[in-house]
Amino acid sequence: MKDFESKNFSSFAASRHSTRDFLSTPIPDEIIHEIIADGLTSPSWSNTRPILVAVAKDDVRDRLSEEFLSRWFAIKDVRENGILGKIKAVLRRRGLPTSNWLITKPYPKDLLPRSKKQGKEFFSFIGIDRDDKAARDKAWARNYDFFGAPVELFVFTHKSLGKFAASDAGLFMQNLILSAHSKGLGTCPQGAVAIWEDAVRKEFEIPKNYSLLCGICLGYPGDGKINSFEANRLKPSGIIVPLKNKK
Ligand SMILES: Cc1cc2nc3c(=O)[nH]c(=O)nc-3n(C[C@H](O)[C@H](O)[C@H](O)COP(=O)(O)O)c2cc1C
Repeated sequence: MKDFESKNFSSFAASRHSTRDFLSTPIPDEIIHEIIADGLTSPSWSNTRPILVAVAKDDVRDRLSEEFLSRWFAIKDVRENGILGKIKAVLRRRGLPTSNWLITKPYPKDLLPRSKKQGKEFFSFIGIDRDDKAARDKAWARNYDFFGAPVELFVFTHKSLGKFAASDAGLFMQNLILSAHSKGLGTCPQGAVAIWEDAVRKEFEIPKNYSLLCGICLGYPGDGKINSFEANRLKPSGIIVPLKNKK
């Protein structure tokens, strides 16, 4: 076994939090390559690595952000005007999700309380009233400027492997995210950008048998208060299942 340092792993892993305010400072290509290389040290099903990464920076990043923001504001009606807004949006089509519709659906009942707790704590921390939909929408729209990050990574997975490809991508992303953290870079995985895969495809050569899983914004953290938010973390007992009560 090669030499490694593991004694500070728990505090290192626990010190990572999603970053939602970035400096525009560019990230050298070598660093982007290094963290992708670290991502690729993760386990993978039969070592097939059924994932692809599109690195959006500079003018590509700006074009995609502009496109996403314009689509997001185009579906404002749907969010603000109920059924009438939905009808208008369907007729107009612009802004409606073109991929991963699942994201727009309500969370399943058993997971909803966790999501609600997260939302409540997050919005209260950044001083937004839960009932202030306009302010919440404005905060969400920051996703489409990648929170100011100079780089957005779009992670695609091989369609035929379904959840096994998604699992490989998750393992890859976490290694990449921790690698970025070790270099003083911030990240935020973003399901928010997964709903308009067609826009990303317009910028990159993506084979047909791959589909967009999510984005990850990447950059040096800014000093916004939002970056000090610490999401609550489940204890192991929250996910370890009990034994069956055998008679
Ligand atoms: C697949 C995935 C998609 C996510 N999408 C978003 C997103 O669109 N916008 C956002 O602000 N955070 C997003 N997050 C970040 C989660 O909200 C965050 O990881 C969670 O609240 C735990 O907080 P932590 O990362 O600071 O530990 C996403 C996380 C994952 C894993």
